[in-house]
Amino acid sequence: MTDERHPHPVIRGLRIQAMKLGKRIAMPEYADDRTLRAAAAARDINLAQIVLVGDPDYIQKRAAELRIELSDIEIVNPEAEDVRRLHAEEFFELRRHKGISEQQAWEQVADPLYAAALMLRAGRVDGSVAGALNPTPVVLKPLLQIVKCPPGISTASSCFIIATPMEHMGVEGLFIFADGGVVPNPTPEQLADIAITSAESCRLYLNAEPRVAMLSFSTKGSAKHPDAVKVREATRLAQEKAPGLILDGEIQADAALVPEVAARKDSDGILQGQANVLVFPDLDAGNIGYKLVHRLAHANAYGPLVQGLAKAGMDLSRGASVNEIVTVIAIAAIRAEALAGR
Ligand SMILES: CC(C)(COP(=O)(O)OP(=O)(O)OC[C@H]1O[C@@H](n2cnc3c(N)ncnc32)[C@H](O)[C@@H]1OP(=O)(O)O)[C@@H](O)C(=O)NCCC(=O)NCCS
Repeated sequence: MTDERHPHPVIRGLRIQAMKLGKRIAMPEYADDRTLRAAAAARDINLAQIVLVGDPDYIQKRAAELRIELSDIEIVNPEAEDVRRLHAEEFFELRRHKGISEQQAWEQVADPLYAAALMLRAGRVDGSVAGALNPTPVVLKPLLQIVKCPPGISTASSCFIIATPMEHMGVEGLFIFADGGVVPNPTPEQLADIAITSAESCRLYLNAEPRVAMLSFSTKGSAKHPDAVKVREATRLAQEKAPGLILDGEIQADAALVPEVAARKDSDGILQGQANVLVFPDLDAGNIGYKLVHRLAHANAYGPLVQGLAKAGMDLSRGASVNEIVTVIAIAAIRAEALAGR
């Protein structure tokens, strides 16, 4: 997520929306100063009820050193006897088919990331936010093992909200890009899931009808290569799974974004050069693509925002500022509300 002193109006809007929801958000990276500051900042603006998951002695001592007031912030100690026993039972039940022992479950749930994921699964919190300290795979693993995907979706992925100065494109310059953070080499089935969940993210965060482009170096068979065929197959699967969705591919980025190019390369296509959701064929393309737009084209990038999980477990960039963490708390609350309404 880019550091922003003046967040885009859509990001400010997400915070205002979240304030009305009163969600409980777990923050398991208690040893991170930005997390403590973000928890207090979120409390100060009534963004959510924050639940720090971690060692209460450390949290109280560090908060005092940083002059952070902890009133109205809950603390759950994953090592407290009763909490740990409940979590160990839940985790053992969930993972016994994978061959874990009760002792292994007991050890694992002392980890605040696992404790927060169990709290999220059971509905004791509505969302969780981590990733300021831990890399994406470490944050995602407990969420993938414990929270999992909702019925009908089997791939968790991530998207970025990209805010460009090109106001005549996308949703007044805004786009959803996916997947820039989670699935390295998606199969056609996984790519179809990424497209469908990215479309949901477009509705949720940009409040707009998604127009999904399944990007490739080929437009509708212009190149005959297995990579292009993969994207074509993903397009077919996504159209089958979500028949009402405006989604097309395989398509080159220029044909997806520029009506004049679309008229030449894809005159019969439904996107007509007006895509607002760009689904990249793999993680290399997705990660490099969003970074190029961010660094070379003065676009702000918000994410990675995890999508495709049954509950609102969110990741952060390790470079996230306090302000950005507060925004992700808001996004977790909004995603939690959307998932609860299903
Ligand atoms: C996300 C990631 C950590 C998953 O790692 P993995 O090695 O596939 O995970 P595991 O094989 O241990 O799988 C753990 C569980 O998650 C599931 N899983 C893995 N990826 C999944 C996905 N994208 N969606 C849904 N479930 C997934 C597995 O099926 C497994 O479930 P099970 O234990 O109940 O059988 C891995 O894909 C990854 O490292 N991605 C890149 C992240 C990254 O570095 N990003 C940097 C840019 S920000």
